[in-house]
Amino acid sequence: MLKSILITGANAGLGKECARQMALQSGVEKIYLGCRNKEKAKAAKQELEQATGKAIFEIITIDVSDLASVRAAVKSLKEPVEGLVMNAGGTGGKHFSEKTKDGVTQIFAVNLLGHVALTNELLKAKKLTKVALYAGSEAARGVKEMGMKRPALKTSSVAEFASICDGVFFGNTKDATVPYGPIKYMAALWMSSIAREYSGIRFVTMSPGATTGTEGFNTLSPLKRFVMKGMMKMMLMLGKVHKLEVGAQRFVDGLTNESYQSGVFYASQKGLTGSIGEQSKLFADLSNESFQDNAKIAIDSFIKPS
Ligand SMILES: NC(=O)c1ccc[n+]([C@@H]2O[C@H](COP(=O)([O-])OP(=O)(O)OC[C@H]3O[C@@H](n4cnc5c(N)ncnc54)[C@H](OP(=O)(O)O)[C@@H]3O)[C@@H](O)[C@H]2O)c1
Repeated sequence: MLKSILITGANAGLGKECARQMALQSGVEKIYLGCRNKEKAKAAKQELEQATGKAIFEIITIDVSDLASVRAAVKSLKEPVEGLVMNAGGTGGKHFSEKTKDGVTQIFAVNLLGHVALTNELLKAKKLTKVALYAGSEAARGVKEMGMKRPALKTSSVAEFASICDGVFFGNTKDATVPYGPIKYMAALWMSSIAREYSGIRFVTMSPGATTGTEGFNTLSPLKRFVMKGMMKMMLMLGKVHKLEVGAQRFVDGLTNESYQSGVFYASQKGLTGSIGEQSKLFADLSNESFQDNAKIAIDSFIKPS
């Protein structure tokens, strides 16, 4: 049972639905909605209060692509949280490959750098006490159905992982789905590495699976959006993707069910929906401890002290 949780990207899609489902769990007293846009956050808070009949939501302003905002958010937390859901993310907006002031791409900052900094700051301040869940993706091990290849690294060295962080690995690609999978792969590696460092906290990477009803494709180029949305519609008809409630339920399960083990990446066993299993059984690189640590070292090298 968790008393308090912080969810990033809680004003839409899976983050908001996870907040709704968690509010209905017994014992949950406080849910912090981590959002970058105050107006959207207020609207989500109101909607969640109405949907659940509970006044347990509090807004925390956080833009995970901006480390100063991440640090300010941690400072603003008056008490520790028992659970953290690193959900904000997706394809990084229209300028996904542009660099942030920390030297990583926008898509990397939103999906991973900000969450690493957030976790580090929470741990340093002793403000995270039980479980951290990262919103992973099957894209991390490749998804044939969506035309996404398994990340193909040559050396898995710190330098090669750093080239995923700053985007050099991807050349001049204009397609945000190209870096997305390798970034989610690095996230799962980082989670496994930090799980070995902090044995008192459960670090679970959980993919929601292919989930409809989110705003996930809205910032892709019009052509890519058309293709991806069309594919999702067709796959929903074929039973190969699922609805929002099902995707968010995976997060709730990862948070509340302790049989989901620390350091493990769980996602669909086959395709993008259905039963969940350990992804290292499908892609052995995920359990390589040197790769995990190299990914962590590479990410940490972009986080300069404030
Ligand atoms: N949907 C799927 O099929 C699927 C599958 C696998 C994994 N995932 C992962 O699940 C997570 C949620 O996806 P979703 O489909 O629910 O996406 P979504 O509907 O687009 O929601 C994304 C949320 O993240 C927030 N966000 C984006 N950039 C942010 C930033 N810099 N700082 C703070 N918040 C930020 C958005 O806020 P704004 O409203 O302000 O933009 C929004 O609340 C993502 O990490 C995604 O990669 C999704």
